[in-house]
Amino acid sequence: MISCRICETYIAPFMSFGKMPIANGFLTPDTYDSEYFFELAVGYCSNCQMVQLIEQPDRTKMFHDQYAYYSSISKRMREHFQKMVADIFARYPVSDNPFIVEIGSNDGILLQNIAQKNMHHLGVEPSKNVAQVAQDKGIQTINEFFDRHVAQNIASKHGQADIIFAANVMCHIPDIHSVVSGIKYLLKPKGIFVFEDPYLPDIIDKISYDQIYDEHVFYFSLTSLSHIFNLYDLEIIHVIPQDVHGGSMRYVVAQKNAYRLSEALVHQKQIEDQKKLNHASTFEQLRQNINGSKLQLMALLNDLQKQTKRVIGYGATSKSTTVINYCGINSHHIEFISDTTPIKQGKFTPGGHIPVRPYQAFSNNYPDYALLFAWNHKAEIMANEDAFSNSGGKWIVYVPSIQIF
Ligand code: SAH
Ligand code: TMP
Ligand code: ZN
Repeated sequence: MISCRICETYIAPFMSFGKMPIANGFLTPDTYDSEYFFELAVGYCSNCQMVQLIEQPDRTKMFHDQYAYYSSISKRMREHFQKMVADIFARYPVSDNPFIVEIGSNDGILLQNIAQKNMHHLGVEPSKNVAQVAQDKGIQTINEFFDRHVAQNIASKHGQADIIFAANVMCHIPDIHSVVSGIKYLLKPKGIFVFEDPYLPDIIDKISYDQIYDEHVFYFSLTSLSHIFNLYDLEIIHVIPQDVHGGSMRYVVAQKNAYRLSEALVHQKQIEDQKKLNHASTFEQLRQNINGSKLQLMALLNDLQKQTKRVIGYGATSKSTTVINYCGINSHHIEFISDTTPIKQGKFTPGGHIPVRPYQAFSNNYPDYALLFAWNHKAEIMANEDAFSNSGGKWIVYVPSIQIF
């Protein structure tokens, strides 16, 4: 049992995935002996409905000067953030000389669209290597973990913000009280806070259990988020479902009573109310579905191994760490994983120790099957991989169900 990070109600896990390593902890054999493991388990709060990890590793084990996720690797995500910035500026006009802040700005994938407009901006990014990439592009970035204290420092140096952005980072920060209180302090009276994260109902519907890993301490819904914002006199004023990262939600938050609530928000709340996100049966069903997905995937991989088919993994994603370790996939099932990120190449996957090789290892010698770990980038990848399919190569996906195509 732990107490809920939002409301301190006791919560018990509904599911454990067993011992897990750091999802982005790609490593070399000389460090296998000191590899860190923790128990990956999730629970939900019967009071505020927040789904959360029971235990999260210390943040310095995940976010440091060798962080393996470079956001700009994906063309689709570069386009996504370009459009996000354009859409937000079109819907919410800002003052003449606005100040824009981003939490978790990584290599500058979003803020580059603001810097191009010569707008006053600041990124907050604790992982030094990716922050450096942004700084090299001329994007103002401080190398810190955002919290209430950092928010106060930013406000005293730069003034309050017109817009605060945060993509795929709110769900990473366990002390959400400090973050939300910092946002409250930093935001102008008519300012907006725009963030997006994987959406709990999508995870449940698609059985995309690989969204559950060390970095993701929270699995948000509109209902659970409304609870925490309300405590700080903030409110969600608008939501827009997104199809990136396998199903995300964009939330627009403002000071209470500063804006009218959108119809989309009211509609989404109605949808959520039917989802029974505070029922034990919902999570028991999810647990069974996850177990079923694992059994089916392993039956397939064991069968292909018996047939001596060549199978490789496509995309050494952070999400794949949960699948590989929970299902027990090893280098007998898949020869290697192809990935375009230089820092991952030549290393081995966390826990499962499957080699990660450059993309050419795949394209120069097509396997019989490619297991699509980067399933959330399926459209982008399929558009590039006609030659593999034309050569007779087959794809395996496991979200929303096990399929070969
Ligand atoms: N926004 C980018 C990056 C998401 S990955 C995108 O959507 O692609 C999560 C990022 O949040 C990492 O770069 C990590 O270093 C950063 N991060 C983790 N904890 C943080 C904190 N407390 N404050 C600010 N950034 C944080
Ligand atoms: P993500 O699912 O967390 O966004 O990570 C995607 C990973 O997949 C990242 O390591 C880069 C890799 N990748 C490829 O190797 N090829 C591709 O075409 C794409 C889109 C991603
Ligand atoms: Zn709670």
